[in-house]
Amino acid sequence: MNPTILAIESSCDETSASVIQNGHVLSNIVATQAIHEQYGGVVPELASRAHQQNIIPVVAQALQKANIAKSELDAVAFTRGPGLLGALLVGCSFAKSFALGLEIPLIEVNHMKAHILAHFIEAPRPAFPFLCLTVSGGHTQIVLVRSHLDMQVLGQTTDDAVGEAFDKSAKLLGLPYPGGPLLDKKAAAGDPNRFQFPIVNMEGYDFSFSGIKTSILNFVKKNSAADPEFVQHNLADICASIQSALIQTLMKKLVLAAKEQGIKEIAIAGGVSANSGLRATLQDYSKRYGWNVYLPAFQYCTDNAAMIAMAAHYQFLAGDFTDQYASPDPRLKV
Ligand code: KG4
Ligand code: ZN
Repeated sequence: MNPTILAIESSCDETSASVIQNGHVLSNIVATQAIHEQYGGVVPELASRAHQQNIIPVVAQALQKANIAKSELDAVAFTRGPGLLGALLVGCSFAKSFALGLEIPLIEVNHMKAHILAHFIEAPRPAFPFLCLTVSGGHTQIVLVRSHLDMQVLGQTTDDAVGEAFDKSAKLLGLPYPGGPLLDKKAAAGDPNRFQFPIVNMEGYDFSFSGIKTSILNFVKKNSAADPEFVQHNLADICASIQSALIQTLMKKLVLAAKEQGIKEIAIAGGVSANSGLRATLQDYSKRYGWNVYLPAFQYCTDNAAMIAMAAHYQFLAGDFTDQYASPDPRLKV
C-alpha cells in the first residue's frame, strides 16, 4: 500500500497542510499568524479565528502544489493534541468533515511525536533506538524512540518549557514577540561567558526553567537601577549568556541520558531546535562523545503539517485509524 494522505496542523499559531505519498512529502504549506505580534504572545481566541480563515486556502494550496486531486486521497490526518483547544478544534472538525465527505479514513496524530518523526522526512534518518531532545514553546522532553510508533518520555520539564524560557527572557530584555529567534540572533554577536545565569540540575532526566526568569528579572532590575541603558548597551552579551545557560541546562541531561542508556544516536526536534547555539553545541558534543547527531532542516523545526503527514504515514501502515467521534486533547501525552 502506498498511501496518499492529507495532513492538517492547527495546534498553535500556524495553520498548515501537507500531502504525503508513500512516505514522500509532496507539499507543506504553512500560514503563520502575524496577528499575535501586537499582543506579545499567542492569543488563543484569535488563533482559532485565524485557523478558521486560513484552513481552506491552505488545504487547497497543499493539494494543488502536490498535484493531487481529492479523489486520490486515502486518508486525512489531523493534530489531536497537545495544543490550544480552540485551535485544535478547527483542524479536527475540518479533517472529520473532509473524511466524511470523501468517505476515507481519519488519522489522529500526536503533535510531539510528529516533531520527532520530522526526522524521517529527509535523509539522514536516525537509526533506532535513538534519543530525541524535544524542545518547543510548550514542551521540553528527552524521549527514547524505539520505533516510529514506540516512544517513551525519560525526562521532562517540571515547570516552563525551554521555548517559553527563551520567549520570556527576550520579553524581559524588551525584545518583541516572538522572542526566541530574536534572542538567538542577538546572541550570535555576544560573549556567552560575560554574565552568569543559573544552570538548574534537577533529579534524573527532568528539567526546570522557571528559576532563570526570576534571575534575569533581578539581573535586569539591579543593573538598570545603576544604569538605565545597561540592557541596550550589553544586549548581545546578555542574550549570549542566557542562551548559553539554557543550552547547558539541556545538555547536562542529554549527556546523562545518552551515557546511562548507552545510546549515541541523538536527535533534536521542536521549535527550539532551530536555535543556532543549540545546533552548534550538538555538533560540538558529537565530536566529544562520538554521537551521531540529527538536526532537523529549519522548515521542519517549527510547527508544520509535513511532520503530521510523516506520523500519519506510519500510523496508516500500522492500521492506526480513528473515527468521527474523535476529539482534540489539549494535554495529549507522548
Ligand atoms: O514547536 P514550535 O513551533 O511550537 C510549539 O509546539 O510550541 O516551537 C515554538 C517555540 C517558541 O518558544 C519559539 O520562540 C522557539 O520555539 N524558537 C526558538 C528559535 N526558533 C523558534 N527559540 C530559540 N531560538 C530559535 N532560533
Ligand atoms: Zn510544535
